Amino acid sequence: MVIQLDDVSLMRDGKWILKDITWKINKGEHWALLGLNGAGKTALLHMLSAYYFPTKGNVTVLQKRFGKDPLGEDLRKRIGIVSSTLQERIYGEDSAYQVVLSGAFASIGLYQTPTDDMRQKAQQLLKELGCFEYANRSYSTLSQGERQRVLIGRALMADPEFLILDEPTIGLDFIAREQLLEAISRIANHTNPASILYVTHHVEEVLPCFQHTLLLKAGNVFASGMTEELLTNDMLTDFFKVPVNVEWKKGRPFLTKI
Ligand SMILES: Nc1ncnc2c1ncn2[C@@H]1O[C@H](COP(=O)(O)OP(=O)(O)OP(=O)(O)O)[C@@H](O)[C@H]1O
Ligand SMILES: [Mg+2]
Repeated sequence: MVIQLDDVSLMRDGKWILKDITWKINKGEHWALLGLNGAGKTALLHMLSAYYFPTKGNVTVLQKRFGKDPLGEDLRKRIGIVSSTLQERIYGEDSAYQVVLSGAFASIGLYQTPTDDMRQKAQQLLKELGCFEYANRSYSTLSQGERQRVLIGRALMADPEFLILDEPTIGLDFIAREQLLEAISRIANHTNPASILYVTHHVEEVLPCFQHTLLLKAGNVFASGMTEELLTNDMLTDFFKVPVNVEWKKGRPFLTKI
C-alpha cells in the first residue's frame, strides 16, 4: 500500500479545505487526480508529502501512520515531488545535470560529492527524459518544458516509491506538453516504477497508464475508481456542472462542451 486516507479532513484558517477524504493507492497503481482551481489538490498533496497534518482522520503514507510513526526527512526522501513551488526554489545557476544529481540528496543545490553510480544514474535519467543535450546548461536558461523534465529527473534520482506530479504541464506549449506526457508514460511503464500520482485540471492529460482516477471537488471526493468507468459523459457533466462530451482517442479522454 502506498497511501491510505480514512475520513481525512483538513482545516486551515478556520476553513475546511479537505472534507472526509477516504482514498487508497496500492503499490504499482498510477492515479490521476482531477479537480478545478481551488478544489484542494495541492493541499491534499502537501498532506501526502507530510507537510500538512490532518485536522481529523488517519493518514498512512508508505507504511508511516501520521501521528504515530516518526515522519520527517526519511519519508520525504521516499517521495518524489515535482511542483511549481519546487520549481521556484531551484538555483538558476545550477546546471541541469547538477539539479538532477541534487535529487540523490533531496537537497536544493549540490553540497555533497556524488558517487560514480549517482553520476551515471543522473546521466541515464537525462537521456531517458530527453534532456541530455542541455545537461550542462544552467537551469535559468532552460524553457519551462525543459525545466519540468529536469525536475522529474531530479525526483527520480532517489528511486522514490511514490512520485507526485502537480500540474507538470503548466505553461507548456502543445508539443512540449505531449513530449512531457510521453516521458511520463515511459516512466510509468518501467518494470519497477514508483506509483505515480498525476495532478491536473485537464481531462485529456489522463494517460492510459493512469488506470485510476480521483475526482476532487470543493475539498470532497466527488468520485474515484477505474478511469475508463469513471470518466463518462454523465459523470463529468455532473462534476463540471456543464454538459460535456467525452471522446476517447488512443486511450485518452478528450472533453468538449456541448
Ligand atoms: N493556508 C491556507 N489558508 C487558508 N486557505 C487556504 C490555505 N491553503 C489553501 N487554502 C484554500 O484552500 C482551497 C484549496 O486550495 P488548493 O491550493 O489545494 O487548490 P488546488 O486544487 O490545488 O487549486 P489549483 O488548481 O488552482 O492549484 C483554496 O480555496 C485555497 O484558497
Ligand atoms: Mg494546486
